[in-house]
Amino acid sequence: MEIRIFDTPEEAGKAAADIIVETVVADPAAVLGLATGATPLPVYREMIRRYEKGDVTFSKTVTFNLDEYSSLPRKAESSYYTFMWSNLFSRIDIDGDNVHILDGCAPDKAAECARFDGMIDEAGGVDVQLLGIGTNGHIGFNEPADEFTGGTFEVKLSQSTRDSNIKYFADGNMPEYALTMGIGTIMKAKKILLMATGENKAKAIYAAVRGEVTPRCPASVLQNHPDAVFLLDKSAAKLLED
Ligand code: GLP
Repeated sequence: MEIRIFDTPEEAGKAAADIIVETVVADPAAVLGLATGATPLPVYREMIRRYEKGDVTFSKTVTFNLDEYSSLPRKAESSYYTFMWSNLFSRIDIDGDNVHILDGCAPDKAAECARFDGMIDEAGGVDVQLLGIGTNGHIGFNEPADEFTGGTFEVKLSQSTRDSNIKYFADGNMPEYALTMGIGTIMKAKKILLMATGENKAKAIYAAVRGEVTPRCPASVLQNHPDAVFLLDKSAAKLLED
């Protein structure tokens, strides 16, 4: 894996956006894997800026989002569907038919997950997958576990993930389950950009980069990916000092 350290979250976000924009300029129909959370917001702001400047068009770009809460209507304020449309899709020229976000309300969750993986394969696979990281080392919603997960699946969220994300649910009513790309799905992406900012991610980053490859720290699997780039600000990289 390649590690790149920046002074600020904005610079790390700009570097991730540069790679995404270059990919889309080279192939306007590129397939992007996108993430939610506070971390990728500077990436999305920069993608919007570059689109407004006329550097890039996303009109043919295809996207797949990493995850979505189970049983939360798409229109809910805290859904990842709402997050993506408010923070990125409504601000660029993407074609809504090319946007793929798991439907957490699908009656048959297993069928929804299989359909999603099938669509990624049909689209030719993800060219660039953007990831954040949880304080427990999770990627997507792949929680620390005894084994690495495979395809997209429904997961029970850990207490630590619930504690970190409850702030996004004004009524305190946070779903206990989510649908997420599995580690197997994520690892199939041709290039992976993991972004982490802030000191609260430093331990997870240290474990992912310097620790053993173990499903107890799901992000550590990226040590085995042929083209994974970690874009970190100084605080998240704090424990990687040499
Ligand atoms: C959630 C998302 C992850 C994200 C993580 C960290 O659990 N499922 O994809 O990486 O939050 O979020 P933040 O960037 O807000 O710290």
